[in-house]
Amino acid sequence: MNIAIVGTGYVGLVSGTCFAELGNTVICVDNNAKKIEDLNKGIIPIYEPGLEELVAKNRKEKRLFFTNDMKTAVEKSKVIFIAVGTPPKLDGDADLKYIEQVSRDVARYMNNYKVVVEKSTVPVQTNKWVKYIMRLNNHKVDFDVASNPEFLKEGSAIEDFMHPDRVVLGVESEKARKLLVKLYEPLKAPIVVTNIQSAEIIKHASNSFLATKISFINAVANVCEQVGADIEKVAEGMGLDKRIGSSFLKAGIGYGGSCFPKDVQAFIRIAQSLGCNFDILKEVEKVNENQRKLVFKKIEQALWILNDKKIGVLGIAFKPNTDDLRSAPAIDIINMLEAEGAHVKAFDPKAMAHAKELLPNVDFCKNAYEAIKGCDALVLITEWPEFKKLSLTKIKKLLKHPIVIDARNMFDPAKMRKLGFKYFDIGRPKA
Ligand code: UGA
Repeated sequence: MNIAIVGTGYVGLVSGTCFAELGNTVICVDNNAKKIEDLNKGIIPIYEPGLEELVAKNRKEKRLFFTNDMKTAVEKSKVIFIAVGTPPKLDGDADLKYIEQVSRDVARYMNNYKVVVEKSTVPVQTNKWVKYIMRLNNHKVDFDVASNPEFLKEGSAIEDFMHPDRVVLGVESEKARKLLVKLYEPLKAPIVVTNIQSAEIIKHASNSFLATKISFINAVANVCEQVGADIEKVAEGMGLDKRIGSSFLKAGIGYGGSCFPKDVQAFIRIAQSLGCNFDILKEVEKVNENQRKLVFKKIEQALWILNDKKIGVLGIAFKPNTDDLRSAPAIDIINMLEAEGAHVKAFDPKAMAHAKELLPNVDFCKNAYEAIKGCDALVLITEWPEFKKLSLTKIKKLLKHPIVIDARNMFDPAKMRKLGFKYFDIGRPKA
């Protein structure tokens, strides 16, 4: 099938590449000339495991193309996915100006029947507006709108695309249903076909529910800490109940990234604007914000006065296997440390190039040991697997004081204490 993907951000690029890998001919369009120029040279703007290789393979096999030419992309395609950004505005509402622009452009260039599919995360009823705007800009050509939310996790996006738990299709015509089902059939995943509003809500509700699970387990962790219970065991004991499930029950510094914070906030705003009470999500946000403050308090508990202290931070990305810094807890922690007069040395395997722009006062080091050397304490914020392999005896030797604040419960508390560390973690017994 001939497909166009408008927007070569994280979702657009991964989806376009994977659709090509499934045998479709895919044109990815973006108005950022430099990005398209880079992509046409094989330079990938984000770090996502396996993506570079898959882009190269599908370009070579002439199934994947990158262009600024929206007109040709629209004319040549049967299905057009909109995957442009919907960043939060200052009031928390999603900013839909890019969606509106693209809807106008697509409508203008439509030469025959198309299905225009919304893939960006948008508030319920956005599709109605997309349809309205498209009709306003093109009275002649028949088209359908549809919603196909994505459930890709950064760091495992290709795997998530190729082996999804489910595919959700919000459609309003049999013609659109048939085309989209055909496109996704090769994945052999359950396909939920519903109306457009339901598909839009499935996305917001899924992300908000997962964020709720994380805040719930973090709130439980804080209770555990007070009574000497172990959050890891509590989560294991809860998660084995199939109705609860074990994923997204990892206590830590709370959720970050480009999706959960934005989507929870947007869902609160949507519910509010519809006159529905969804205060539970306000609490989810509050617990999440508080979790960062709790980690900061642990640093203060370990060192008392932070002025002039040297702190080694491991992990800046909002989670492992990505270079994404959006709503990354590390940024907040580093800002709080610097506000108290501390000096931060840091290391992240992939996110340092971006981090340098956001955190100009941080001393970025070439490896984890360099970042730890001579520091008053080590703060571990992102659980990159390679940090687990670090030599604890070497860390102890390099630190000025053997103090570790582990915001992801990466290390074994008994082992840490045996080695002589003052070890601060989340929701686990003190000894
Ligand atoms: C999330 C969803 O998981 C995807 O299904 C969805 O498609 C995507 O948002 C999106 O809307 O585009 P992502 O933000 O890439 O994916 O990352 P997750 O792996 O879900 O992690 C989100 C945050 O929660 C991270 O900061 C992570 O550290 C944190 N987390 C996750 C926990 O603190 N504990 C957990 O048990 C799980």
